[in-house]
Amino acid sequence: MHEEVTHPCIQHKLALIRDIDTGHKMFRELATEITMFVCYEALKNIRVKEVDVETPLTTARCHMIDEDIVVIPILRAGIGMLDGILSLIPSARVGFVGLERDEETAQPATYYEKMPLQVKNGISIIIDPMLATGGSTVAAINMLKEQGAGRIVVVCIVTCPEGLAAVHEAHPDVNVYTASIDPGLNEKKYIVPGLGDAGDRLYGTK
Ligand code: PRP
Ligand code: URA
Repeated sequence: MHEEVTHPCIQHKLALIRDIDTGHKMFRELATEITMFVCYEALKNIRVKEVDVETPLTTARCHMIDEDIVVIPILRAGIGMLDGILSLIPSARVGFVGLERDEETAQPATYYEKMPLQVKNGISIIIDPMLATGGSTVAAINMLKEQGAGRIVVVCIVTCPEGLAAVHEAHPDVNVYTASIDPGLNEKKYIVPGLGDAGDRLYGTK
């Protein structure tokens, strides 16, 4: 399953983040803001428990999140979404997976990995702004499943039909939430119209 979260507030911010004239400071701020909106939607079905809270007047039956949540940014561009999701779930644990696409072949290579044990019983949320061919996301999901992860969700900012198909084919149990499903990939496997190289735009490299 995948869901494109198309609220006007997200569409407005997407227009700004795509713009070639948006510099790295504003790009980072927009990535954080868009992430908050998309994650808000992605987290709508997480488990809650009932708690009684004493208000100044009486006892209120309330609900609080009842899941171990592990957020996994795919280095390096995924770090640009971390503040956004942690502002929604400040108690989340964070795991890291370092993956880099080869510029010629677009195949991902792993260079780092560190996961909290809680991926086994909790819900794992992979964050990466770009789900292009899907190679990096599928590799991250494979790694999490090897470590015993059960429930996995992917949140990105921009994807395309090719990336979604790759994830759904390899991992039909994993849901993907995105701010945009763009038309496709160019010959260099970049999403078009996309927003360019997310890592470079976030960190001001190149
Ligand atoms: C980008 C992006 C994803 C990946 C998407 O990272 O952040 O991780 O490419 O492409 P795919 O779906 O075809 O695998 P990149 O490898 O450029 O590394 P970076 O984040 O360090 O810039
Ligand atoms: N990586 C990016 O940063 N952008 C794309 O469009 C594809 C892969």
